[in-house]
Amino acid sequence: MLADADRIFTNLYGFQPWNLSSAQKRGDWDNTKGLMAVGQDAIIDAIKASGLRGRGGAGFPTGMKWSFMPKDPQPGRPSFLVINADESEPGSCKDREIIRNDPHKLIEGALIAGYAMRARAAYIYIRGEYIREAEVLFAAVEEAYAKGLIGKNASKSGYDFDVFVHRGAGAYICGEETAMLESLEGKKGQPRLKPPFPAGVGLYGCPTTVNNVESIAVVPTILRRGAAWFAGIGRPKNEGTKLFQISGHVNKPCVVEEAMGIPFRELIDKHCGGIRGGWDNLLAVIPGGSSVPLVPAHEIMDAPMDFDGLRDLKSGLGTAAIIVMDKSTDIVRAISRISYFYKHESCGQCTPCREGTGWMWRVMERLREGDAAPEEIDLLLDVTTEVEGHTICALGDAAAWPIQGLIRHFRPELERRIAEKRGGLREAAE
Ligand SMILES: Cc1cc2nc3c(=O)[nH]c(=O)nc-3n(C[C@H](O)[C@H](O)[C@H](O)COP(=O)(O)O)c2cc1C
Ligand code: SF4
Repeated sequence: MLADADRIFTNLYGFQPWNLSSAQKRGDWDNTKGLMAVGQDAIIDAIKASGLRGRGGAGFPTGMKWSFMPKDPQPGRPSFLVINADESEPGSCKDREIIRNDPHKLIEGALIAGYAMRARAAYIYIRGEYIREAEVLFAAVEEAYAKGLIGKNASKSGYDFDVFVHRGAGAYICGEETAMLESLEGKKGQPRLKPPFPAGVGLYGCPTTVNNVESIAVVPTILRRGAAWFAGIGRPKNEGTKLFQISGHVNKPCVVEEAMGIPFRELIDKHCGGIRGGWDNLLAVIPGGSSVPLVPAHEIMDAPMDFDGLRDLKSGLGTAAIIVMDKSTDIVRAISRISYFYKHESCGQCTPCREGTGWMWRVMERLREGDAAPEEIDLLLDVTTEVEGHTICALGDAAAWPIQGLIRHFRPELERRIAEKRGGLREAAE
């Protein structure tokens, strides 16, 4: 279990005010100039050494991502940092806690990260539904400007850096990094084909890095306490602390900062008061937000909650949004509802996703009732593999994986429903 002294987000629950003076008492904005004075490449090297991997879902190494940005931006072609606060993946609810209770960690992180990659400004793209969070963020940015922490000669570092807050309009797809860039440019939020990658051609055609809120907000503390401190928590390639968001059938759902790699059972017992109805009542867990495949109870119990631990179970850490389902759950209905979400949020650009998500959802709805032929289970599985990896963005994969997880672990349940329905029909006919 993570020691209190190792927590980065010391105001996660909002017990203290979010404002600048309180944030400064918690250590934010303390000698930011000094942190920047080590130089841009030294900051990138420190983030590489810390082992930080992106907290937005894919887990790409953050320092390496920053190193793709040009070291010598051309005149008229500034570089940008875009901070992804879209947080629309069902189950995910961590970035909002950072923004409403600890926004200065994010703004200070934006300055340091932006400086490290020679960016001229940061754009924070916040999900439209996060109204109160956006209010806090606007006010916190204003405070930081008023005190000279950002803007011209930010924090007296000699570096000019602006921070803009942009509110989205509530589309899940705008969380995909290139759709976010389109949306920021005032266009319909549809993912771009890659390459070119944003580090080459991003916002307004300029070099851009997109990072998740949590990835940026942890940066000042990593630099203050040292890369070795962060790298000393968790397991190799899975270092640091992480905000876990546990929802569903636990006694006390919560968002909590813990060490990466904490075993599932310990996480739930220590912070959530156990599974509703006891451990024997656990059915399955979706460990990383709705897009990752579910893991059945017996496989997840002692699993380390990190990137590699969950990959070994053919699932993923994703955003560490853990959805716990006990035995009262209609698991087919739960996954079908997730299929509906992806169908609804598909932007429609690519045929496998546009047509496939609707098709998969309709089959899922029939399977829910058992109203299908047994062969359709394999047909559905086959279609998920035709969608997966054949689309412009990962929404296609996100639609396919939950169904693959269901079939992998709950095929007998699907078959039972089909047999039951057929038996019922036969009885009615006789
Ligand atoms: C459909 C879709 C939705 C996404 N939504 C989010 C989101 O809400 N927040 C987020 O940080 N990343 C989201 N991502 C991942 C981003 O594209 C991007 O990888 C991430 O912001 C990079 O940040 P990181 O390197 O700090 O993890 C989404 C990806 C896809 C394909
Ligand atoms: S995979 Fe889906 S959401 Fe992504 S670009 Fe294609 S149609 Fe749009």
